[in-house]
Amino acid sequence: MRRKLVVGNWKMNGSRAVNAALLSGITAGLDGAAADCAVCAPAPYLAQCESALAGTPVAWGAQDLSAHAGGAFTGEVSAAMLADFACKYVIVGHSERRAYHAESNELVAKKAVAALEAGLTPIVCVGETLAEREAGRTGAVVSAQLDAVLALLDDAAAARIVLAYEPVWAIGTGKTATPEMAQEVHAQLRAQLKQKNAADAVQILYGGSMKPDNAKELMAQPDIDGGLIGGAALKAADFLAIIHATR
Ligand code: PGA
Repeated sequence: MRRKLVVGNWKMNGSRAVNAALLSGITAGLDGAAADCAVCAPAPYLAQCESALAGTPVAWGAQDLSAHAGGAFTGEVSAAMLADFACKYVIVGHSERRAYHAESNELVAKKAVAALEAGLTPIVCVGETLAEREAGRTGAVVSAQLDAVLALLDDAAAARIVLAYEPVWAIGTGKTATPEMAQEVHAQLRAQLKQKNAADAVQILYGGSMKPDNAKELMAQPDIDGGLIGGAALKAADFLAIIHATR
């Protein structure tokens, strides 16, 4: 049985003061949680996460990393630097990076490899746009996104990733995929992981307007192993309600 995992993606939000209140609110409300949980913070706040969260059940991670190991890449952050701040996770291939930074499937795959080589768990995001869904291309789009990553991994490495299905049209819009729509894509992704013997091991998260009032139904689906939460991860009470919805 895979454990449930709930990850907050703070995106470009927060400040030292706001983060301090959010992190203490989260850690104070975790009693009885049945899921693993983590927050993915902007890079400058990873040290703050490390000092606030070390020794608690909440893991932390980053929202992106460089595919390169180090050197002349101004502005970039390497996997080893994230590991230096005891990050457990790093999001790769979020649709906002794909859309605003032109990240290709191949670059996302290289970033996943860089993360794994440094001992981090990449949270690999896949998802279709509204136009792609309406054109009946959801299956083909997410399958190509996952294939690019699996092509660079052996079976053992593939079993160490986390996958997140995030329909682009559901992110930050208040429109959620129905549990049935999400489950259909999750089941397809799960089947695709079989080629690397990783179908049983990999947690597949749903993301896109997951909130306290829809989390339970989504996470009750057989192939939905948790959530990648944007907006609702910025309020301790909402984030905790989603974590506790896995009970
Ligand atoms: P949302 O974002 O929960 O605000 O829709 C999810 C995400 O982008 O990871």
